[in-house]
Amino acid sequence: MVKVNENFLEVKQSYLFSEIAKRIDEYKKKNPDADIIKLGIGDVTLPIVPKVIEAMHKALDEMGKKETFRGYGPEQGYDFLREKIAEFDYKRKGIDIDISEIFVSDGAKCDTGNIVDILGTDNVVAITDPVYPVYLDTNIMAGRKKIVYMKSTKENNFVPEIPKERVDIIYICMPNNPTGTTLKKDELKKFVDYAIENKSLILFDSAYEAFIVDEDVPHSIYEIEGAKKVAIEFRSFSKTAGFTGVRCAYAVVPKELCAYTKEGKEVALNPLWNRRQCTKFNGVPYVTQRGAEAVYTEEGQKQIKENIKYYQRNARIIKEGLKKAGYEVYGGDNAPYVWLKVPDGLTSWEFFDKLLEEKKVVGTPGVGFGDAGEGYFRLTAFGSYENTVKAIERICGTSL
Ligand code: MLT
Repeated sequence: MVKVNENFLEVKQSYLFSEIAKRIDEYKKKNPDADIIKLGIGDVTLPIVPKVIEAMHKALDEMGKKETFRGYGPEQGYDFLREKIAEFDYKRKGIDIDISEIFVSDGAKCDTGNIVDILGTDNVVAITDPVYPVYLDTNIMAGRKKIVYMKSTKENNFVPEIPKERVDIIYICMPNNPTGTTLKKDELKKFVDYAIENKSLILFDSAYEAFIVDEDVPHSIYEIEGAKKVAIEFRSFSKTAGFTGVRCAYAVVPKELCAYTKEGKEVALNPLWNRRQCTKFNGVPYVTQRGAEAVYTEEGQKQIKENIKYYQRNARIIKEGLKKAGYEVYGGDNAPYVWLKVPDGLTSWEFFDKLLEEKKVVGTPGVGFGDAGEGYFRLTAFGSYENTVKAIERICGTSL
């Protein structure tokens, strides 16, 4: 008799964004003419920038010629891309990261989910509440039972408190998904200091760092002294360069970062992650990595920054529009997400249904990110400008 992995029976039956897609499909079947605006999942809408497309075309042509064809690439990513990442994302910002510490992958969602493979199941895991559901679900799937929640709400200004009990792994997503809020350097430093003192590990997801505008908000956890000893950083080209459909990201696993055996012996995580990736992953396609490399050209940088500005304008439209209409709103300044308080004492899902039925606008119910998200709702700035304006006009009942 085949046995099921019963850990999978412990997670919610469907993934948040699949559940939303299902509800939209059901609604559309009943209302085929409804003009629905989707500001739910944080999926980009602007096309990939010309410099990246040009590089991908060129790479594709190389694949069609005997002399330049490439088969399997290195599991860790091609050096041409890892060198650009090390130079542009770190060295130029005063952070020393070696290319052997960079692992190119097909997404930060996959990386933050897969990282649990190299960490013991008896670790105590701290996640924020609300939280990007992948962190919680992947730990439950891996059989981790000891989860500690760090509330991140308006009451503590969205600065999660370090748990009173000892924790081994701490997930931090900054700028935050779903609340769109951030941590300042001194606030993040407290987590790093805690991790150093307690031999804990921080899993730092900075998929939204390109949206940071405030000076005192760190783009990388390695801006904090000592962080290379205790943190893995996850970055993605998805939201930075419109790669949600192309798939390219990377994880930084510093050489000096260690976890411990039951006997307390230090084990470096970099070779372990390398071993995991070589066994379970065959690398990101060459064409994709050439596209990602082009992000770091002068023109590429200019073009992606224009796109980010476009989404930042959307975030302002959402935030200001809702505020004017009397909503309580958070986030959106250094992030592509706006977090709003649901009016009239409705639950998050009731507000979802009401918005879909009455305004034909889709967002993400806050409770889908955890209990502390109940009564809140997330709107993404990744829609088109026109749809964003239309959606806010519909929600607020006024023209902008
Ligand atoms: C979100 O909407 O939270 C994100 O798009 C999900 C993701 O990046 O996987």
